[in-house]
Amino acid sequence: MARATATVYVCQNCGHQESKWLGKCPDCGEWNSLVEERARAAPSAPKGMAARGGFRLREVRPVQFGEIESQTEARVSSGVTEFDRVLGGGIVPGSLILIGGDPGIGKSTLLLQVADKLSGQGARVLYVSGEESERQIKMRGERLGVEAANLYLLPETNLERIFNEIERSEPGAIIVDSIQTVFSEKIESAPGSVSQVREVAGQFLMLAKNRDIPVFLIGHVTKEGSIAGPKALEHIVDTVLYFEGERHHNHRIVRATKNRFGAANELGVFEMTGEGLVPVANPSEMFLQERPQGVAGSVVTACMEGTRPVLVEIQALVAGSKYNYPVRTAQGFNASRIALLLAVLEKRVGLHLLGDDVFVNVAGGLEVDEPAADLGVVAAIASSFRNLPVDAHTAVFGEVGLTGEVRGSTQAQVRAREAQALGFKRIVMPASNTAGLERLLGLRVVGVRSVEEALDELF
Ligand code: TYD
Ligand code: MG
Repeated sequence: MARATATVYVCQNCGHQESKWLGKCPDCGEWNSLVEERARAAPSAPKGMAARGGFRLREVRPVQFGEIESQTEARVSSGVTEFDRVLGGGIVPGSLILIGGDPGIGKSTLLLQVADKLSGQGARVLYVSGEESERQIKMRGERLGVEAANLYLLPETNLERIFNEIERSEPGAIIVDSIQTVFSEKIESAPGSVSQVREVAGQFLMLAKNRDIPVFLIGHVTKEGSIAGPKALEHIVDTVLYFEGERHHNHRIVRATKNRFGAANELGVFEMTGEGLVPVANPSEMFLQERPQGVAGSVVTACMEGTRPVLVEIQALVAGSKYNYPVRTAQGFNASRIALLLAVLEKRVGLHLLGDDVFVNVAGGLEVDEPAADLGVVAAIASSFRNLPVDAHTAVFGEVGLTGEVRGSTQAQVRAREAQALGFKRIVMPASNTAGLERLLGLRVVGVRSVEEALDELF
C-alpha cells in the first residue's frame, strides 16, 4: 500500500508546525527548535480495533447531569500518602498522569513504589520500561522491598506491541517509563520527538478513558527545564506532576502543576532514603529543621502550597558590591519580584541598597510562587542589611504593593494556625486579615498596614 508522507517542521518546544524550516519558532519564540519530522498518513479506513490503538471506542450518548456518578468515591489510594495528596486525594481511575523531573531525581523509584502498593491491593500493574532492563528494575525493587506478586515488567518501546500486551493481559494500572522512549510505527519521526510524544500520549489517553484505568507517563525534563514538547503534552494529560528542587537535598518535592481532579500547586514531600522515598508527614518541621536562630537575614514565612500551609525559611544576604552592576540573585523565588521589592525598600522605607549585592534563597529547595511571601523576603533583606536578627519565634506573611502597603492574603487563618502548631509565638501579617484571629491560643497576631510598620514591629 502506498502511503502519503509529508515533511513538516515541528518545534520541539511547543509543537508548532511549519512547512519550511525557520530559525525561530513563530509561536513560542524558541531558537533552533524546529526539527524535520515525517508524518505518515494514517490508513484511511480504520481496520478494526488496531486503528484505535487496539481499542474499540465506547459508544457515547448525552447523559443527564443528575445521573452522572460523582467522582469522589471513585478515587483509589496509591498506598503512598504524599503521592495521594499531590494527586488531590488519591488516583482517579481513567486518568492520564504525567510525572516529570530531572534524570536521577527519583521518578522511577517513586512509580515503582506506587506500582508495588497498587499491586499489593490486588490490581494487576504493568510497568513498561524502555529505559532499564528487567534486571535493573528488579535490583532497584529489591532495595525498595518490593514484593508485589501482581507486578509485571515489560521491556518494550513499540507502542503497538505494548497495546497488544495490554489487550492480552488487561492490567488495572499502567506505568510507562519513559514516554520519550516509546514510539508508534505510524509516525516516522524519532522516539522522543514532539510528534511521537504527542501521538503516544494521545493513544494512552484514549486507552485510559476507554478502559477506565490510570496510566502514569514518566517524562524527562530537558536542560531548559521542560518535558520534551511540554506544551504539546501538558494539555493532553489530566495531571502534571513535577519533581522540584535539587538532587543534592535528601528530600524530594513533587508538585502538581496541573490537575483536572484536584488543586493545582498541591505539594508532596518525600525523603530519599536507602529504602526509597518515604513520605514526610510534616513538611514545615522538615523545612525549618536546620534553621539558624538569632542570625540576621533569616525569616520564617507561612506559604500556601495547594491546600496545605507550609512554613519555610527565607534567607537573604546583603553585601557591599564591588561591581558597577550589583548582583541580585534569587533561588526559589521570582527574581524580578525581588527587584520590585528592593525598589520598594529603597523608595518607601529608605534603605539604600543600590550599591549592594543581594542574594535571596528559599531554604530547602522549595519554589515559592505566591505574593504572600513578599513580606518574608522584605524582612529577610532588611534584617541582613541592618544586621539585626528577627526574633526566632516570629513568622510573617503578606503581599507587598508598590506603595509599600501590605495587602491581604488568602487562607490567612490556615497560615496562622500552622505557625501556632509549630510553636511560633508571634505572627506579623496583613491588618486586613486579622479579624477573628486575635484570640489564637498562644500566638500573638500583629496586623500591619505597611512595610514600614512591619519592620518597626520586627526590629
Ligand atoms: P531514579 O528513580 O532512578 O531516578 P529517575 O527515574 O528520575 O531518573 O532515582 C535514582 C536515584 O535515587 C539515584 O541517585 C539513587 C537514588 N536512590 C536512593 O537514594 N535510594 C533508593 O532506595 C533508590 C531506589 C534510589
Ligand atoms: Mg528512571
